[in-house]
Amino acid sequence: MKCFALVGKALLPADVWVVAGLPHRAPEATASRLGAWCVGGMGVPVVGLSSELHGGNLAARAAALGVRSHHLLDASASLAPLRPAVALELWRSSLDLAGLRAYPDRAHSVLRVAIARLHGLDPAWVLPGNGAAELFTWAARDAAAAGVSALPAPGFADYGRALVCWGGAALPWALPLHWDAAFPQVLPAPPAAQVLWITNPHNPTGQLWSRESLAPLLARHQLVIVDEAFLPLAAGGEAQSLIPLLAEHPNLVVIRSLTKLYGLAGLRLGYALAAPERLARWAAWRDPWPINGLAVALGQRLLRSPARYQRHCAWVQAWCAREGAWLAQRLAGLRGPWGVLTPLPSAVNYLLVRGEGSLVPLRQSLEQRHRILLRDCRSFDGLDECWLRIGLQSRRGNRRLLRALRHEWALLGAPC
Ligand SMILES: Cc1ncc(COP(=O)(O)O)c(C=O)c1O
Repeated sequence: MKCFALVGKALLPADVWVVAGLPHRAPEATASRLGAWCVGGMGVPVVGLSSELHGGNLAARAAALGVRSHHLLDASASLAPLRPAVALELWRSSLDLAGLRAYPDRAHSVLRVAIARLHGLDPAWVLPGNGAAELFTWAARDAAAAGVSALPAPGFADYGRALVCWGGAALPWALPLHWDAAFPQVLPAPPAAQVLWITNPHNPTGQLWSRESLAPLLARHQLVIVDEAFLPLAAGGEAQSLIPLLAEHPNLVVIRSLTKLYGLAGLRLGYALAAPERLARWAAWRDPWPINGLAVALGQRLLRSPARYQRHCAWVQAWCAREGAWLAQRLAGLRGPWGVLTPLPSAVNYLLVRGEGSLVPLRQSLEQRHRILLRDCRSFDGLDECWLRIGLQSRRGNRRLLRALRHEWALLGAPC
């Protein structure tokens, strides 16, 4: 099996890399793909996720282009549009100065009750976090202790970042790069590993995996971490969630996020659903106030009513289905002298697009001439410069994107 170097200095005989917390030299190609970087200082390197390799670097790109960030159309991150009702709740939460003056409740009791009610669970099964990303860090601590993790490739690089923290070992789990448009789909068989990291729907492909294909894995693997950050955005997604299997499977962790669903990446609010003993352990490891008071207050407001939450999900799912079909159809019709763009079928709010040649010049021109950011896919293992990921926008934004693409597609491109 091909070795999967995250960051490390020791190659084990079984082709498994130790994901060392303090590497002295990262294997370059893979380290850069996964966004790992090393900074020497007093002989103690630091490892982290390079912001260049994640989408949504709005402030940095705006500064580089010399424009204000609201002039950019950011299709490099995949967020639902910010609805006025959500903005109003944000405004109301920010007015609660008394709430912000006090330390946040360390037990997050009210928020946990609200989240538990949404999913029909006891609050002891809920742990809110500073975005899903913080919770991956704690999941990775358990994963590193359990053994080798199988990481989907192409897949979300943050799982690798989290494993780096604990010196966890990882294997690649290569996913085929072709699929049909019928969702949900069967998850490809994982390699032999104690721990599975599953993204449902998958990032960057947008595939929705069926619960039927995921459930048997719980009997075969010591720990199964399912990232459902995008699941509430997919029509019919909840029917594929593993949340109903939690009670019977202490080896299952489900992670959700408000980032994508509410278009609130800056709020940093997510939650883990898992057996109370596991979550109590994580809570004891983390810092005392991992979630700021504003995020807690807004989370409580947004999630306080299951009916309201369902209505929001239905609105987002309708937007996603409508704009996804509209944009995919028009992208597929884009033909330049150098070939066509092929958007692959997606169940969620982004389209993975394959080009017949390098799409890097096109992406750069869109950024520089049209102030539109698309996701460069070279940071995803198994994808190269012929791929882009496009986050859906409002209809107005999608029209702006298409106009720019048509303009540039007529001017640029060379087969790679
Ligand atoms: C699949 C997936 N899960 C989780 C996250 C991060 O969520 P959060 O903003 O809650 O940390 C992302 C962000 O890009 C993602 O793509």
